[in-house]
Amino acid sequence: MCGIVGYIGTKKASPILINGLLRLEYRGYDSAGISTIENNSISIMKDKGRVKNLYNLSGIDDLEGTIGIAHTRWATHGKPSKENSHPHMDNSKTFSVVHNGIIENYNELKKFLIKEGYIFYSQTDTEIIPNLIHYYYSKDNKQDDLKLLRSIKNACSKLKGSFAIEVISKDYPDNMIVVRKDSPLVIGKGDNENYISSDIPAILSFTREFYLLEDLEFVILSRHDAKFYDKDLNSINKRIQTIEWNASSAEKDGFDDYMLKEIYEQPTAIRETIGAKLTEDSKCEFDELDFTKEYLQSINKIYLVACGTAMHAGLAGKNMIEHICKIPTEVDIASEFRYRDPIIDNKTLCVFISQSGETADTIAALKLSKEKGAKTLAISNVIGSSITREADFSIYTHAGPEIAVASTKAYTSQVVLLSILTIYFAEILKISEKEVKSLKKAIIELPSKIEKTLKCTEKIKKFGHRIYQEKDVFFLGRGVDETVAKESALKLKEISYIHAESYPAGELKHGPIALIENNITVISIMTDPKLVEKTVSNIQEVITRGAKTLVVTNQKIDDKMFDTVIHIPETNSFVSPILSVIPLQLLSYYISKEKGLDVDKPRNLAKSVTVE
Ligand code: F6R
Repeated sequence: MCGIVGYIGTKKASPILINGLLRLEYRGYDSAGISTIENNSISIMKDKGRVKNLYNLSGIDDLEGTIGIAHTRWATHGKPSKENSHPHMDNSKTFSVVHNGIIENYNELKKFLIKEGYIFYSQTDTEIIPNLIHYYYSKDNKQDDLKLLRSIKNACSKLKGSFAIEVISKDYPDNMIVVRKDSPLVIGKGDNENYISSDIPAILSFTREFYLLEDLEFVILSRHDAKFYDKDLNSINKRIQTIEWNASSAEKDGFDDYMLKEIYEQPTAIRETIGAKLTEDSKCEFDELDFTKEYLQSINKIYLVACGTAMHAGLAGKNMIEHICKIPTEVDIASEFRYRDPIIDNKTLCVFISQSGETADTIAALKLSKEKGAKTLAISNVIGSSITREADFSIYTHAGPEIAVASTKAYTSQVVLLSILTIYFAEILKISEKEVKSLKKAIIELPSKIEKTLKCTEKIKKFGHRIYQEKDVFFLGRGVDETVAKESALKLKEISYIHAESYPAGELKHGPIALIENNITVISIMTDPKLVEKTVSNIQEVITRGAKTLVVTNQKIDDKMFDTVIHIPETNSFVSPILSVIPLQLLSYYISKEKGLDVDKPRNLAKSVTVE
C-alpha cells in the first residue's frame, strides 16, 4: 500500500509533491520519488530511503515544472532500490507513471512487451504500465485530444489486479491522466490547480473539496479543469464533496484508530495476498518457489517458527499442512526453538513467519536452522526485510503496512498465505485433491465473507460494554478454534490489559475449571462441525457455574443457552480462523476504547521486537 501524490497548477510542483509525500509517511514506505515536466521533457528524482532524502538529490531545486507526480513505495515486486522506486518511464521516455496496487498478470504482460522489443530496468510490476501505454500510443494513428486517454484505457484493459495510476507525458505537458481500480485515488480541487492523492491527508492542507473516484473512472486533469470518463470513455459528471475531517482522522481514513482501520482493511489485504497465486481452476503458483515432488516427499519435518500472533498463524498452518499434505509439522516459538537444540537436518524445511521480518528471535532461529542444514522459507509482509534476505526462499503477505502495534490484518493474511502454500504443496504431491478443491473455493470467497463478518460490530460493542471492567476472561475452543482462542486472548491482554487465558475446551476439567466462578466471562469459538457438540458440553459446565458466555460460531446451536452468540459465515474449517478471529479482534478493540486506553500503542509493547 504505497502512497501517491500529484499536482497540476501554476506553482512549482516539486515542493508540493514532497510536502504531500511527507504527510503520507505515517503509512510506512521504503522509497520515494517524484517526476515533473520541464521544457517538454520528463525529469525523475527518486531513491530508496526517506522522503526527506529527496531534498539532497542534486538538481531537485532546479525542477521548475508546474505539473508532477510523486510516490512512496512499499515494496511488493523487487527489493527497495533506486531502480525499483517510482516513478517509472517507458523506453522512449514519453510517459512517467506512478502506481499503487498489484498487477497480477505482470509476468505475462512483461513477456509480451519483451517480445515487442521493450527493455525492463526494474523488477517491478509497475514498469510494464508506461511501456504498455507506449505500445498502444505508438499504434494509434489518430492525432486528437483523446489519444493519450485512449492509450491508457487500452493499457488498463489488459491489467489484472488492483491499481491507482497517475500518468504524465512529455507530449501532453499540460495534462495529467489518472485512473483507479480497487485502490484508492482522490482529486482535490483548488483555484486554477488540481491535487491528486491516494489518501486525503496528503492534500488536506491545500483543499477540502474532493472528487472521489470509482473503479475504472478515468480523469484528464488540466490546470483549470477535471474531465471525467467512464470505462468506455463516455464523458460523466462527478459531484464535488467537502471533507470535514481533521488531519489526524484523515490519516486513518475516518476511523478513530489504526487498529480499527486495519481490521476493516482485511478484505483488501486478503484479496491482495491471494493475488494471482490462486484461482479455482488452475494450479496454484508461487513465482518465488521451485519445489519438486521428490523434494517434498523427502521432507522429514516442517517447522513453522515465529513469535506471538505470527506463531498463532503457524498453528492454523500446521492443521492444514498435516491434514492435507500429510507432512509432519511442528509449530515452535522462535525464542524457545533457538535454544532447545531442535532436531534438524537437510531433510527439514523450516518456515519462518514474521510480519516485520525483523524479529530478533525469529532471525536467530532462522540462522540456526541454516547452520544445521535445513532448507529455509520466510513468510513476511516486508520485502527486503532481514528474514527474507537470510532465507533460501521468501514469499509475501500483501497486507500493506500495519501501523497499530496489535496485529490484525497481518495475522489473517499469514493464515491465507499458509493455506495457499498448503495447496501448492498438495498439488505438487498430487494428493488430497477433493480437499484442495474445496479449500481453494473457500479461500477465494474469504474477502466477501469477511465483509459479512464485520457486520457484527454493534453486537460485539454491546458485549464489550458489559465486560470491560472484568479482571479475567477465558477463551475456549477445540482444534482450529483453539488457535483462535489463543490469538484472541493475546489480543485482549495486549490492548485492554485484562488478564485473558485460552485453553483447549477439553482441558477445562483438568484444572482451569477451578477458576470458574459466578459471573466470570467465558468466550468460545465453535466452527468445526465435528467438535461443536463437545465444545457446547464444555460451555454448559461453565454456565452451570455461573459464567457469562459469548460464542462465535458458524454452526447451528441453541442460541438461548448463551448470553451472546455471534453468527459468522460458514467456510472450510481450515480457514475458519480468518473469519472467527474478526469479532474477537473487534471485542478487544472496543473494550480498550471503553477503558480509554491507547489502542494503537499499548503500554510496554513495540511494533517490531528487534532485540532479544
Ligand atoms: C501481537 C503482535 C506480536 C507479533 C510478534 C511477532 O498483536 O503483534 O505478537 O506478532 O511480535 O512480530 P513479527 O510478526 O513482526 O515477527
